[in-house]
Amino acid sequence: MDIQRVGIIGCGLMGSGIAQCAAEAGCRVVVKEADEALLTKGLKRIHGAWDRSVAKGKVTEEQRGGWLKNLSGTLAFPDLADCDLVVEAIPERLDLKLQAFTELDQVLGPAAILCTNTSSLSVAQLSPALAPHRLPRLAGLHFFNPVPMMPLVEIIRTLATAEDTLTALRTFVQKLGKTAVMAPDAPGFIVNRLLVPYLLDAIRCAEQRLATVEDIDIGMKLGCGHPMGPLYLSDFIGLDTMLNVAEVMFDAYGEPRFKAPSLLRQLVAAGRLGRKSGSGFYRWEGEKRMEALPI
Ligand SMILES: NC(=O)c1ccc[n+]([C@@H]2O[C@H](COP(=O)([O-])OP(=O)(O)OC[C@H]3O[C@@H](n4cnc5c(N)ncnc54)[C@H](O)[C@@H]3O)[C@@H](O)[C@H]2O)c1
Repeated sequence: MDIQRVGIIGCGLMGSGIAQCAAEAGCRVVVKEADEALLTKGLKRIHGAWDRSVAKGKVTEEQRGGWLKNLSGTLAFPDLADCDLVVEAIPERLDLKLQAFTELDQVLGPAAILCTNTSSLSVAQLSPALAPHRLPRLAGLHFFNPVPMMPLVEIIRTLATAEDTLTALRTFVQKLGKTAVMAPDAPGFIVNRLLVPYLLDAIRCAEQRLATVEDIDIGMKLGCGHPMGPLYLSDFIGLDTMLNVAEVMFDAYGEPRFKAPSLLRQLVAAGRLGRKSGSGFYRWEGEKRMEALPI
């Protein structure tokens, strides 16, 4: 199966990136958002990225024109009816995802593949929302943030996922110019299973005043050759997303290393969600990180 028409549910941080990459790869992409304002905001993010690429001379007007033609938006699930693949990228809440999957299952054709971009939930937990014939077409497709820059995608199979579904997804990932790894259907898959305890530990270190926020980040960046420090990365991911992921993983494994530090809860409660809200461990001016804020 050659995936040509792609539906994306949610045009936030991840959904917009996945939609952008799929449209650039030549797929016809429809993004579905919750309301008109969010849809406009999500599409604007993608258009903005393309405008910047044209301004920098990396992309021609003609290429951008082709990508724009490949991309459309909607508020209605039935507009995704002819998709070969739908990738869900709505917030990390099982109830919301189950509801979206129930609606999708009713409108999609029998051969359509249905994927979640969940960071931490088990993919098989979404099965109750689907008719039995759809289960071989259910898988996880886990992209990394920022999607246009990150070359890895984890493909997650459940016990029911069909081999031809996995083959179609591998080909799709390749078409996007990315590399796929096969990951188990266990919370966190490969990368977050290792990354999340590290990020939570860094937050615990900041909470215990091991060092300043900047020095923790500089330490891991220059001492370990990481492209960015763990607190900067947490701001980048979104502290609310981090909290949701930690809760799901702690629930699943019961290990203290997955427990959300109280500083993370306090920051989220204060509306300091990281880059997306303009403040987290750092103050942000749009995409630009400014000074560290008091904690
Ligand atoms: N943020 C990351 O670094 C990251 C990385 C990998 C995976 N993920 C996962 O990707 C998913 C999305 O995360 P995000 O960071 O993009 O979140 P986000 O909050 O930026 O975006 C979610 C979007 O979904 C929309 N939405 C909610 N309900 C909807 C519905 N019923 N129909 C259509 N749209 C709906 C919201 O309006 C919002 O725009 C989560 O499962 C998250 O765990 C996130």
